[in-house]
Amino acid sequence: MTSAAATARLDRLWRRGRQFLGSRLAIMGGAMTWVSDRNLVAAISNGGGFGVIACGSMSPDLLAREIAATYELTRRPFGVNLIGMHPELDALIDVCAEQRVGHVVLAGGLPRSAAVKRVKDHGARVICFAPALVLAKKLVRMGADALIIEGMEAGGHIGPVATSVLAQEILPAIREVPVFVAGGIGRGEAILSCLEMGAAGVQIGTRFVCATESIAHPRFKQAFIRAAARDAVPSAQLDPRFPVIPVRAIANDATRRFLDTQRQVIDRFNRGELSQKEAQLEIEHYWAGALRRAVIDGDVENGSLMAGQSVGMVTREQPTAEILDELVEQAQRALTRRWRDPVSTTAAGDTAAGAVPRLAEVATIEVAD
Ligand SMILES: Cc1cc2nc3c(=O)[nH]c(=O)nc-3n(C[C@H](O)[C@H](O)[C@H](O)COP(=O)(O)O)c2cc1C
Repeated sequence: MTSAAATARLDRLWRRGRQFLGSRLAIMGGAMTWVSDRNLVAAISNGGGFGVIACGSMSPDLLAREIAATYELTRRPFGVNLIGMHPELDALIDVCAEQRVGHVVLAGGLPRSAAVKRVKDHGARVICFAPALVLAKKLVRMGADALIIEGMEAGGHIGPVATSVLAQEILPAIREVPVFVAGGIGRGEAILSCLEMGAAGVQIGTRFVCATESIAHPRFKQAFIRAAARDAVPSAQLDPRFPVIPVRAIANDATRRFLDTQRQVIDRFNRGELSQKEAQLEIEHYWAGALRRAVIDGDVENGSLMAGQSVGMVTREQPTAEILDELVEQAQRALTRRWRDPVSTTAAGDTAAGAVPRLAEVATIEVAD
């Protein structure tokens, strides 16, 4: 395949995602609380991807200002990620509508159908996270316009299932709406394989943390640059009576102390000094403000270094546009290699050089066309 043919092929593979997002590339910048502000979001959208503002715990006023500031920096489409349990969710949805945000991601667990409806009634598209096939189908019935499936390789809050398994389970079964794959994607070859399995596009977070435009503290970025995949681990739970929501982060003093804290709180509960509810709250409270401490203040020992396993592929600070170009080039080169090097496709069960491109086409699930 020539490079022009590879470009055309890639364009076709993610056409559905590009059309849905209105961007040149079907690469969503995964919203990252404190990191995905106007600067990174605009840089991703200007670079051809689709930036997503992380609302996190922002008030409606703050969100309105952040959206307005993002419009100052880009004319390209971008979205807003809202956390479902935010106490002012309805007001935040209304802010998105007032500011003419076209795509709202509802994160943090299964959204209420009233929230999905509210976004849609305002005319925006709603994107939801589907952690399992049965929930993916439910979300489609609830009116989700697109889904994100995110595997446990991802940074931040995670589920128990790997990206590769979720992709096999959900992509062939959900054709009604575009599905974006997230978790552990650090190179273009991985993007290509998601698309070939039927994804409309991908969502990437970790890889953008060290973008030049990212406002993350230099020490936070340095921790990413130094870390290997195995350093990004899920938070551990000591006792099944006190559940811990798993969060993947680079191990540091805070993650180690979290175990001691759980141990001490559970001892106090066992001695009758705390009720179950009080003990649970103390454990949950441990991480309050920890992401901000690391991302903004640069306290990389006491803060939370949320990062996905793809952190091992973050090797330096780079402009966002360069990261995006690199990802696209890697995907295109992988396509081109199939023509030049038939051995690279033998895993797909074919060895005849002439037949390779054709078989690759056949293997592709064409959801877009
Ligand atoms: C520092 C950090 C903060 C994050 N914050 C959020 C968030 O506020 N809301 C959300 O839906 N996802 C959040 N995520 C997940 C990302 O949006 C994205 O889905 C994830 O990073 C994709 O996997 P990857 O890290 O392997 O690329 C966060 C991830 C990181 C690394």
